[in-house]
Amino acid sequence: MTDRSSRDGVVGSASVAVSARNLGKSYGDTVAVRDLSFDARAGEVMGLLGPNGAGKTTTIKMLTTLLPIDSGSATIVGIDVAAQPDAVRRVIGLAGQFAAVDEKLTAQENLEMFGRLYKIPKTERTQRVDHLIDRFDMGEFADRIAETYSGGQRRRLDVVASLIASPPVLFLDEPTTGLDPRSRTELWDEIADLATQGTAVVLTTQYLDEADRLSDRIIIIDEGVVKASGTSAELKTSLERDVLEVHVVSAEDLDRAVEVAEQVASGVSSDSEDRLLQIPLTDGSSQSLAVLRQFDASDIPIDDFQLRRPTLDDVFLTLTATGGNR
Ligand SMILES: Nc1ncnc2c1ncn2[C@@H]1O[C@H](COP(=O)(O)OP(=O)(O)O)[C@@H](O)[C@H]1O
Ligand SMILES: [Mg+2]
Repeated sequence: MTDRSSRDGVVGSASVAVSARNLGKSYGDTVAVRDLSFDARAGEVMGLLGPNGAGKTTTIKMLTTLLPIDSGSATIVGIDVAAQPDAVRRVIGLAGQFAAVDEKLTAQENLEMFGRLYKIPKTERTQRVDHLIDRFDMGEFADRIAETYSGGQRRRLDVVASLIASPPVLFLDEPTTGLDPRSRTELWDEIADLATQGTAVVLTTQYLDEADRLSDRIIIIDEGVVKASGTSAELKTSLERDVLEVHVVSAEDLDRAVEVAEQVASGVSSDSEDRLLQIPLTDGSSQSLAVLRQFDASDIPIDDFQLRRPTLDDVFLTLTATGGNR
């Protein structure tokens, strides 16, 4: 056995599949990623969550050898990304990137080809291709050549092609963007299955429900830096606030209701279609009473209300720069 676990003094690094240390990248004057560090372990889904322009794609491109690293370092299953890019490419998958789909081949043939490329034995390969075609509902077009596909069909093939080989480390950059809801759910299940089998998955997303549902751990990034990290539950707890949801009877009262609520709380948001106010409170129960009394005193009738725990949405909106305006 090689002594990988004690190298660099990092305990248990044998199971660390991705290690990013102080990564930085600029495009001219634009700092896309600054001082970004995280680990992902085998069998774990690590969610990189952040709004548009946060630096997610730049991070993935550095980790997958597609962009040179400006500062900091990264290893994939112990292999240094900058020093051994070819070796790194052999142990990773990346949706829609290395899997260059051949337009003149059918989905079935493309997937077969990727399976052969990764030297998956024939029987297993056929099973895997059939399983993925079935799971992603590609049967109706799997026998047509790829250049005839709709955008959504093509997107499914791109993503599925990255799943064929079950590489030790899989990078998925906003994998469900452009997928229909059903394919999205199937992809979530497939990703969870791969992680159960030991694959480390690094997934970027702008969708909070996706990060919440899939990720074992999440880092929230914005403007190239880590704003928060932890499990979904930890992130929600760290926010230390609850949210009072109030439905007003009449949409016409909504603006006035926001003004009234803001006398007690800040960061109130409203949705006129649902006649709903979301009021973040640091001291849930006593502030709730204060808000409800104010509505009563101001003659704003309400349908119902509930105090709820924060969702990942609340965490995200609190921590990322543009807050509720996005
Ligand atoms: N090729 C490029 N040239 C110049 N600026 C870029 C380039 N790619 C990305 N950027 C900028 O870097 C920042 C991070 O972008 P990106 O990594 O694509 O974020 P995300 O994937 O989270 O949306 C943004 O400000 C973006 O405009
Ligand atoms: Mg991106």
